[in-house]
Amino acid sequence: MAEHWYKNAVLYCLDVKTFADGNGDGIGDFTGLAARLDYLAGLNVDCIWLQPFFPSPMRDNGYDIVDYYNVDPRLGTLGDFVEFTRRAKENGMRVMIDLVVNHTSIDHPWFQAARQDPASPYRDWYVWSEDKPADAHEGTVFPGKQDTTWTWDREAKAYYFHRFYDHQAELNITSPAVRREIQKVTGFWLQLGVTGFRIDALPFLIEHKGLPTEGMGDPHAYLRELRHHVQTLCGDACLMAEANLLPEEVPDYFGDGDKIHMSFNFWVNQHLFLALARRDAGPILRSYAQLPALPPWCQWNNFLRSHDELDLGRLQKDELQEVFAAFGPEPGMQLYGRGIRRRLAPMLGNDRRRIELAHSLMLTLPGTPVLRYGDEIGMGDDLSLPDRESVRTPMQWTDGANGGFSRADAGQLSLPPIAEGEYGYRQVNVEAQRRDSDSLLNWLERVLRRRKETPEFGLGECRFIETGRPEVLAHRCDLDGVTAFAVHNLGPRRVRFDLPVDAPADGCVHDILARRREELQKDGHYRVDLEPYGYRWLRRDAGE
Ligand code: GLC
Ligand code: CA
Repeated sequence: MAEHWYKNAVLYCLDVKTFADGNGDGIGDFTGLAARLDYLAGLNVDCIWLQPFFPSPMRDNGYDIVDYYNVDPRLGTLGDFVEFTRRAKENGMRVMIDLVVNHTSIDHPWFQAARQDPASPYRDWYVWSEDKPADAHEGTVFPGKQDTTWTWDREAKAYYFHRFYDHQAELNITSPAVRREIQKVTGFWLQLGVTGFRIDALPFLIEHKGLPTEGMGDPHAYLRELRHHVQTLCGDACLMAEANLLPEEVPDYFGDGDKIHMSFNFWVNQHLFLALARRDAGPILRSYAQLPALPPWCQWNNFLRSHDELDLGRLQKDELQEVFAAFGPEPGMQLYGRGIRRRLAPMLGNDRRRIELAHSLMLTLPGTPVLRYGDEIGMGDDLSLPDRESVRTPMQWTDGANGGFSRADAGQLSLPPIAEGEYGYRQVNVEAQRRDSDSLLNWLERVLRRRKETPEFGLGECRFIETGRPEVLAHRCDLDGVTAFAVHNLGPRRVRFDLPVDAPADGCVHDILARRREELQKDGHYRVDLEPYGYRWLRRDAGE
């Protein structure tokens, strides 16, 4: 049976504004990005996920849209966009984009029309209340930065609802006209060459917000409608949810495989950081034991860091404190009482062993990995910038001016590249790492190639293996009679243990990364010897 492309792909997330500036005005753009497609293809990326690039007042990094059918003029034109998707395709890469339809910017003409006239057809596109609801102080996504979810609008003479900032008015999903418009938006971008969407804030998008629903019933049913629509227009289309789900909520979102295709695995992500902090595999094992199996054509998205804070809100309070203590001990590193606003490399003390370990876990645990731009070279963060901006600094290409991101004067850049210290662009940049065959960049390029050569990890059935060592995570993935194993030592000491590999008496295993044949012991076990924070990928097969 043909496999779905997204189940065994490598995704790479980037923000056009901060990736590469092609015309030298200080802002990244589609021309600059198109010129870096060779770089991404060379890294072994299969699909690029673009963060919002639509016209926006940029009060939430572009997640506040004023026109769903255009490119922000600072980033390029629709022509540049189409040229980019075409060239991505020529380089063997697909493109996914953000679908931000939980809310629009309050500057959007729809909201302007809605607030100005109660009789406007757009009035019903948003969520209004004449009185301030009693729970207005609850449920804000940015505690400490935004203290209400209902804001009074003088022109509308009513309160409007917003989960996020007060400049992001929530759309009313129960309105047939809004759902119809979402069909148009997705259809438009599919026509222009994208293969799918990362659905921003999905649980909030589908909630009915106390509105009359005219028999809509279960809010999750809408996902079936959206899935049917995109898949009818493009057989390959894929919906990837941003949804920080509890295990018991997972089935509602995947249905029988007829709702979303993938979802970011926030549950495992938070437990993975707890495991790294404790140097103990236990939290990862427990997190998987709690998750239900997905329908066969669905997939998790594995990730380490994103453009937001590392959200640890699903951990127990004491567990959260443990991760804070290990990876974000200073108050200025923390955000919203639940997250850490740092990049991966600094959290892990720039310890190459632990950075590789974290990546190896992301690549071998069941799911489709999503890399974040800059992590492939171990970029740092700038804690002097407010809130989540700390992890959104420009890509560091060279040791030249502005880290090679832009030829504009430094003062013209909207966000400064990191210039000083251990993570400054003179120390950390693509060009230097290209020259060094042992660099993180070259290491990652190699392991991504191996990952693609090992579809067992993306497509196989995963089982965890008991090793008797709490710091070891060992799992096997079986696909069509071939078995891949991955073993990880989360601890700071060397460990040796026997791995049951179910091989015939005269069998052997292959070390996938070292390209080496390994003999088994007489009892058919493979004796694993892992250095501190070490990892190994192995394959047992019918004879390689
Ligand atoms: C998502 C995005 C985040 C944004 C929010 C509101 O959580 O990842 O960056 O602020 O949605 O759109
Ligand atoms: Ca530019």
